Amino acid sequence: MRKLNIAIIGLGNIGSYLFKYLNDNKKILTEKNNCLPIIKYVGVKNLKKKRNIKINKSQLLKNYLDATKKKDVDLIIELIGGAEGAAKKLVFNALKNKKHVVTANKALIAKYGDQLAKIAEKNKVNLEFEASVCGGVPIIRSLKESLIANKISRIYGILNGTSNYILSTMDKQNNSFKEVLLNAKKLGYAESNPSADLDGDDVSSKLKILSSLCFNSFLNNNIYVEGIKDIDKLDIDNANKLGYKIKLLGFAEHFKNKIYQRVHPTLIKKDSYVASIDGVLNAVIVDGKPVGQSIIQGEGAGPAATTSALVSDISSILRGNIKFPFSLSNKERKKLNFENIDDRSFSAYLRFEVLDKPGVLSNITNIFSKNKVSIKRLIQDPDKNRKSSSIIIITHNSKNKFLKKILNEVSKKNYLKKKPKLIRIDNI
Ligand SMILES: NC(=O)c1ccc[n+]([C@@H]2O[C@H](COP(=O)([O-])OP(=O)(O)OC[C@H]3O[C@@H](n4cnc5c(N)ncnc54)[C@H](OP(=O)(O)O)[C@@H]3O)[C@@H](O)[C@H]2O)c1
Repeated sequence: MRKLNIAIIGLGNIGSYLFKYLNDNKKILTEKNNCLPIIKYVGVKNLKKKRNIKINKSQLLKNYLDATKKKDVDLIIELIGGAEGAAKKLVFNALKNKKHVVTANKALIAKYGDQLAKIAEKNKVNLEFEASVCGGVPIIRSLKESLIANKISRIYGILNGTSNYILSTMDKQNNSFKEVLLNAKKLGYAESNPSADLDGDDVSSKLKILSSLCFNSFLNNNIYVEGIKDIDKLDIDNANKLGYKIKLLGFAEHFKNKIYQRVHPTLIKKDSYVASIDGVLNAVIVDGKPVGQSIIQGEGAGPAATTSALVSDISSILRGNIKFPFSLSNKERKKLNFENIDDRSFSAYLRFEVLDKPGVLSNITNIFSKNKVSIKRLIQDPDKNRKSSSIIIITHNSKNKFLKKILNEVSKKNYLKKKPKLIRIDNI
């Protein structure tokens, strides 16, 4: 029987669940892959920490980096996290020393994936990262294998469970962003520092990885990123009245012969498929030829779903397939030009909280016409007590740079009471 010696480095939320899973499911994994997985070593930061898993003394490495030098290690599973520091050192050294690597680390792959893939290819070892994008949603293996026949024109979806939980809970309950975020932390759906989730950075890392796989390109940092921090309950209620839901979406797309990557809150029709994805769920939609549209939905995070993805990668290595990390050789990957979204056109929702006084509305509509943005719908909602008015404008398709110009111009007016809002609309 063939054997594969494994070192798991990082035994936190994910690593400890995987450790237990591999021990409990050794027999079935061996039968399915015709190879026996053996956890030879584990590595952590704090050697004295009490853990809820049973580790043999001989398994525990004094220094996690020793795993990269040991002759009796074939595969290193990196579950430390972060683009720099210990995780970076471990993965670079592992690949240089001809060890296969499985990682769940989207930050590391989004930043150093190209360099790492080059070393893996040169040394003929695997670098697998299914768990780095949307936990249990098997999108990476689908792109690399099941959808290999396709020319992909667009990939998009809900790639962050925390922000989807916040937006869908604000929609269902009469609670503010702050209240819902606090509850999300209590329920374990948001980290104590949730900024990467709320700023869109988490989606950005995942989208960069997906778009390079879809378009056979190197990773590209030209990506527009906007998170959900500025969305308030009033925007969600307004969206509902207008027949929309607000979702944080990531898009990588070919549009009129140009390629764009963008992450931002988006108004989408209430009856669209994506609008029905609530809570911490993720959903990824791929448009390709000849397949048409393909959708994968599931748990985007958490130890159980992430372990499902990790075991898929481990199994691929157990079966002995050496593959290019990004589906094709570095020599064949392209340096594509990803465009800035300034010249991309969107229909948009704009909201202005203004003093309720004569001339304000006409001043705003003049700014729109000066920037050649035509108005599809305008709703004015005055609040006599507060002497203020909420002006909501839905535009026809207009270039992003003109929409931004309008925001900047109105922002300078002294009749404005709050920072104005711009949420793009997508007809998905
Ligand atoms: N949590 C999720 O739902 C989820 C989902 C998908 C992907 N991921 C990814 O999975 C990875 C692990 O996440 P996690 O939630 O399991 O993190 P975690 O609970 O913080 O665990 C991190 C582990 O890394 C170890 N570690 C930290 N610094 C180290 C160092 N300098 N040397 C050696 N070991 C070190 C820690 O050791 P000690 O135990 O001694 O402190 C701990 O065991 C991250 O890349 C994350 O982005 C997580």
